[in-house]
This record gives sequence, structure tokens and C-alpha cells, in this order.
Amino acid sequence: MQESSISPSPLAGRHLVLGLSGGIACYKAAELCRALVKAGATVQVVMTDAAAQFITPVTLQALSGRPVYSSQWDAREGNNMAHINLSRQADAIVVAPASADFMAKLLHGGADELLSLMCLARPIERVPLILAPAMNREMYAHPATQRNIAQLRADGSHVLGVGAGEQACGEVGDGRMLEPDELLEELNAFFTPKVLAGQQVLITAGPTYEAIDPVRGITNRSSGKMGFALAQAAWRAGAQVTLVAGPVSLPTPRGVQRLDVQSAQQMQQAVQACVERATVFIASAAVADWRVDGVAEHKIKKGEGGQAPALSFVENPDILAGVAASERARSGQLYCVGFAAESHDLLAHAQAKRQRKGVPLLVGNIGPDTFGRDDNALLLVDEHGSQELARASKAQLAAQLVAIVAQRLKA
Ligand code: CTP
Repeated sequence: MQESSISPSPLAGRHLVLGLSGGIACYKAAELCRALVKAGATVQVVMTDAAAQFITPVTLQALSGRPVYSSQWDAREGNNMAHINLSRQADAIVVAPASADFMAKLLHGGADELLSLMCLARPIERVPLILAPAMNREMYAHPATQRNIAQLRADGSHVLGVGAGEQACGEVGDGRMLEPDELLEELNAFFTPKVLAGQQVLITAGPTYEAIDPVRGITNRSSGKMGFALAQAAWRAGAQVTLVAGPVSLPTPRGVQRLDVQSAQQMQQAVQACVERATVFIASAAVADWRVDGVAEHKIKKGEGGQAPALSFVENPDILAGVAASERARSGQLYCVGFAAESHDLLAHAQAKRQRKGVPLLVGNIGPDTFGRDDNALLLVDEHGSQELARASKAQLAAQLVAIVAQRLKA
């Protein structure tokens, strides 16, 4: 195995044109601009006159660190061709918000102001156009708008979905622009190579909780962050992802189907219900090895004598070993990845665990060095040997692991 390099955010080093057409969602574009810059992108803002009715160019200039363009007659460009110069440098043009009117104009190749002129003048095969619609629910549902969106997609534009909920006009429905963090995640996914396209990835994450009585239980210090990062990375890479999560307080990654469970038995049932469709199974959960034999129906009281209750335990099913022993896993239709959280002798324990669980790839880490943290260091063990993934953020490690799994699937 070879050392793999640390992959930065998919947006790092990209140059984006962020276009704003008119709509109250312009206020969200300010936050998106900031988030893109924080992710390592450079952002050139272009605004229509209608957008400037909702938010000032000064705000966007301050957030992007670049003067904002809004006119095709802008004399700052030496050749007076802002529409050519700005569109040629971009890795993508992102129009957020894209109003109903602006999309209707794009559809017809209209180019009567700088932003639509740039969209039309961009080299279509090299500079993708990403549109984030934002409008009133009636406008969004109108057949004209839906027809325009369908045609824009057919013409090669990447039209994002919309949010549902309360609108600035007071009505409730579909048509809100996605939130800045949702847009950021859509853009992260857009720039991630689709190495898992067509794959169905099933992931377990977090701890399990084994009840003692209605108010107490046994759990562990797993935060679920690594499994959630893997779910996000797999979705960005084009997979359909199901995440079976123990009790954790983490938001569901965009695009991921999440099933919440408590105990190891519930986790096993959820996995069994989904695993038939899966092509990759990644068991990152820290599953409790034992559960209490006979959960008390009522809270166990302290009692008079100060006597500690005697608990007895039964072994939980080994979810990963069970899946790895299935016909689909053994015939190569399902690729299984196990994790091992150890406290010492990582290599020896990880190698032994890989054999014991019957998985092609096992990912070892030192539990106390990673539980709850945003970073980790991994040791990958397969039939050929071992490979270290140096300490990095869990998001970066997840992206590396997804790339490695994709390579194995190809092989
Ligand atoms: N695992 C599982 N079901 C279990 C126990 C573990 O699916 N009942 C999975 C974990 O999700 C992980 C791998 O098996 O992918 C190893 O888990 P770990 O807790 O490190 O190993 P154990 O089998 O519990 O071994 P030990 O406690 O002896 O280290």
C-alpha cells in the first residue's frame, strides 16, 4: 500500500463567479459568499440591478475581497469586455438567487445585462452553470417556471432544488432558496469526482445504548463524527447513502437517508433491513459487546440496605461479522469495511480483527485519541499489509477512505 495525500476541501483553489439576480434571498448570498471564501475559493461577485435593490455591492465586495461587477459597460476592464474576461477565468458560475425572471431570460439566451451576458458567453463545456432558484411558491409551481427549469437542465445547466417553508411574502410552500450551508454542500458535491456513482453505501455510526432500566443505560464515548463524515463523503462521491446512527447529536449530512437506533439489536435490525440493496457496508459504529440481561421495567431504586444491584449480561450480535459472512459479501457483491477502536498495539489488533470479522479492509484507530475529536489518524489493514493515513480532519480522512474504497471496487 502507498501513502495517500491529504485531500483539501473540494472548493479550495476554485475560482467561482457568484451571480445574484433580484430576490429577497440575496441576503443568503452574502453568507454563501463568506462560506465559499472560508472554504478556500476565490469569489467574483456579479450582481444585476434588481439584486442591488436587495443588498448592496459594498457588502459583497467586503465579503469577497474583490470589487463587484454589475454592468457590461464597466470600464475597469482594459478591453471593456467584462463578460468575456470574468467568465473565462471561472471554474463555475453560480447564480444564487436565480429568480424566475432571470431563469426565463437564460432559457432564451437573453443577454441584456452583465450576468446573463456572462452566462451566455461562457465556454459551455468548460464553465458549468449552477442555478439556485428562489421565488414565491406560486411562481415556482407555475408551469412556465417548471418548463424553464426542465429546459435549462436539458441545455446542461445544473439547477438545484429549493427549500420548503415560510416565505418572505408570508405564504408557505416550495420555492425558498436553499440555505447557505446547503448550497455550500451542493457545491462541495458538485466539485467531487463521482467515484461512487451507482453504489449503495450503508454505514453504521456512533455508539449504541444498552438500557439497564427506563432511565439508565450503558454506552461509550463514540461521537459518530467519523461515520457521519464518511456518509457525507460517500454522498459527495455520488453514492446513495443510508446511515444507521446510534444516539449522537449530529446533523444529518445532506442527501443522506438516516435511521436512528439506540441498541445493538436495533442497529442490527436496521442494517438487515437495508443491506440487501447495499454494495458497500462500512461499520464505523462502536457497538456495545454486551447488553443487560432482562432490562428492569421500572427504575431500579437505591433501596434501604445500600446493596448494589447485580447485573448480568448477554452478548450482542456481531453486526459486521454477520454481514461479512453473508452470501453477497462472500461473492463480492457487497464490499465490507470494518473499524477497530483500540487502546494499544493497533497493528496487531487490527490485523487479528480483520481476520476474525472476515472483511477485506479494516480501519484501525486509537479510541482515546479520537473519540469526540474532529481529527483522527487511521491505520488501514488489508490482505497485503498496512497503510497509515496521517492525522487530519475526519472530513479529509473520510474523503481519502472513500477514494480507496472506490479503487477497490474498480479492482
Ligand atoms: N461491530 C459490530 N457489531 C458488534 C461489535 C462490533 O458490527 N457487536 C463492528 C464495529 O462496528 C467495527 C468492528 O466490528 O467495525 C470492530 O468493533 P470493535 O468494537 O473494535 O471490536 P469487537 O469485535 O467489539 O472486539 P473487542 O471489543 O475485543 O476489541
